[in-house]
Amino acid sequence: MKFIDKYGRQHDYLRLSITDNCNFSCVYCNPVHKILPSNGTNQLSVDEILLLTKIFLQNGITKIRLTGGEPLIRKDFDILVTELHELNKNYNARLGITTNGSNLKEKAPLLSKTGFTSINISLDSLNALNFTKITGNNNLGKIIDSIDYVIREPNLKPKINCVVMKQNNFSELLDFVKFGIERTIPIRFIEYMPFSMNKWNEDNFVSYIEMLDVISKQYKLTLNGTSNDVAKYYRVNDSDYSIGFISSISEHFCGDCNRLRITSEGKMKLCLFSLKNKSLDIKKLLDSSLSDTEISNVIKIYLLGKELHHPEVSELAHFENNDMIEIGG
Ligand code: 5AD
Ligand code: SF4
Repeated sequence: MKFIDKYGRQHDYLRLSITDNCNFSCVYCNPVHKILPSNGTNQLSVDEILLLTKIFLQNGITKIRLTGGEPLIRKDFDILVTELHELNKNYNARLGITTNGSNLKEKAPLLSKTGFTSINISLDSLNALNFTKITGNNNLGKIIDSIDYVIREPNLKPKINCVVMKQNNFSELLDFVKFGIERTIPIRFIEYMPFSMNKWNEDNFVSYIEMLDVISKQYKLTLNGTSNDVAKYYRVNDSDYSIGFISSISEHFCGDCNRLRITSEGKMKLCLFSLKNKSLDIKKLLDSSLSDTEISNVIKIYLLGKELHHPEVSELAHFENNDMIEIGG
């Protein structure tokens, strides 16, 4: 039993948002806390998360990533990952998490103990003032301290995600590459994407080709074809160290999409850019008297409606689509 859409794409990667609450207000996601978190009113309980995760695992999901908001601030996070780890013993899916890093050092031992490996940390500036401007948080030192801690944890494989914006941090690209080389932590530069409320405009957009141009003036970059990540990886100065670029806008990779996304309220989205309210209410299915097999069948039928690729950027910029804080990238 597998989740396959009408274009033959097998969906084996589940991205699960476990809270829409966040202690940051990044300009590209939730500027000045415009989107108010639901404060957990309709949030899936740990039991519901486990029930739905089991259904996805039974249908060929091999990788699960917890996202947010900021997943590490969910109150019952420790119980959730402990139980998820128990459940996953029968399936062995790869577990990952995307975090802003603010509570990462405290949670790293637990993540390691519960089988999490892939730790993606958002970091958009290495300059304290600029970091505060972008995220609304004034503790860059704490994030860097967390990064320095997790790179020494043998089971954890951290990566840095940096959303590049012309007016905010484009001037810091070379500093980031230097930072990555010094710590041998992969950095993935992400194209800035339009979502409802993030005030996206073309003038603040930087394509991955422009990023490559700037970095290759200082470093020799060679395309490294061996990754199965959404990023295109380039070796730096013929070394084993690579940096990646995620070109969701200038060169989309929808043809290989293997992702299903679930919001913290239990709504399944077929695409990062799905229209608001276009989702399948999995929580409702769990509350119904349907069996696991019947629920998987409803999911499979819903999946047949998945589009081949997301709309063009000119359309996306005016879309009433998701708020990123609901689905966490
Ligand atoms: N454009 C690109 N990436 C985004 N993210 C959130 N909003 C955007 C956006 N508008 C991604 C970032 C962040 C993660 C939580 O989601 O990588 O680190
Ligand atoms: Fe919070 Fe992440 Fe959104 Fe920033 S990008 S506001 S850290 S959810």
